[in-house]
Amino acid sequence: MANTKKEKYLLSNRPYILSTGSYLPKKVLTNAELEQVVDTSDEWIVTRTGIKQRHIASENQVTSDLAYEASIRALESANLKSTDLNMIITATVTPDQLMPTTSCVLQDKLKAKKIMAFDLQAACSGFLYALHLAEQSIKSGANNILVIGADILSRITNYKDRETCILFGDGAGVAIVSSNNDTKNKQSLIIDSIMQADGSLGKYVTLLAGGSRMPCSKKVLELEAQYVNMKGRELFKYAVRAVVDVCNEILNKNKTKLLDIDWIIPHQANIRIIETAMDQLNFPMEKTVLNIDHAANTSAATIPIALDEFVRGKKIKRGDLVLMISFGGGFTSGATLMRY
Ligand code: UT7
Repeated sequence: MANTKKEKYLLSNRPYILSTGSYLPKKVLTNAELEQVVDTSDEWIVTRTGIKQRHIASENQVTSDLAYEASIRALESANLKSTDLNMIITATVTPDQLMPTTSCVLQDKLKAKKIMAFDLQAACSGFLYALHLAEQSIKSGANNILVIGADILSRITNYKDRETCILFGDGAGVAIVSSNNDTKNKQSLIIDSIMQADGSLGKYVTLLAGGSRMPCSKKVLELEAQYVNMKGRELFKYAVRAVVDVCNEILNKNKTKLLDIDWIIPHQANIRIIETAMDQLNFPMEKTVLNIDHAANTSAATIPIALDEFVRGKKIKRGDLVLMISFGGGFTSGATLMRY
């Protein structure tokens, strides 16, 4: 029983994931099809990355369309109307356009109330960054926040570059974060999260055009600077280190043992990054959430899509202790611990 005002405050305003949703576009691009486009092979892609196929948005789909489909699924699962939402945060590196934001476009498509809606860019860590902001907002008294990771990476992928074009796909994943003040909505508790950035490593994955450094021009097209550029081998090293470091840090901070974790959901960039990190942590692959084979790397969307697939597939069950871990351009990384 909460007796004092302070105890009551501590027990209220706790952030819960009320529901999840995800969406992958219908069109599938297989490794065999990529063999026709660049000098690669299904065998190389599968053994070096774990990817068998990726989903690709249709020409007339934009990022807010993917986010819309995933949001409708999450709203249905939560038994909420879009007018119940009080904030929209979209993490994306491929917004519909620079202005208006994808979140504003989505607010209109969902016919949500005139609520706070904004985009956030932290590359592949974007969803966990957005979830962290939602967590803090709930602790400050907000409720029903739509948190989205959505990307159409195929629009910024150079299909002449075999090192990147085999990795990327399109998709969206969503979580609705709510306050426990409404007791009937008590669901998965977000326990804690840590987010980090190291800008000195930013050079390893870049998209230089379209901002103040290199506005759109003929030169951009000549340099093919509208596409993602990646130093994969270097990134690989930092990615493994980041997964191990943020994992240990959040566990130490919360006095939790790795043995107690039921599932780790890592960013799906490369199966070998995940296997190497899990090996260093001594964490079993059977308890590591993987969907990279069919969904590939969808940047900010990988973690919420994987979470939604494993929740709907009834693999992640009520009461499971789940650790989500991200890394990506920036260089950004993050970890979120939750009791599902
Ligand atoms: O989302 C967050 C950011 N992204 C990442 O974290 C990605 C991190 N990096 C990676 O996933 C991997 O480094 C890649 C998948 C990008 C590359 O795999 P790798 O095992 O590191 O290959 P590598 O760059 O060391 O290249 C090995 C060989 C090279 O040939 P040579 O020089 O040994 O003759 C490459 O040219 O593989 C060649 N190669 C390919 N061969 C067939 C590179 N890409 C391909 C390809 N098909 N698609």
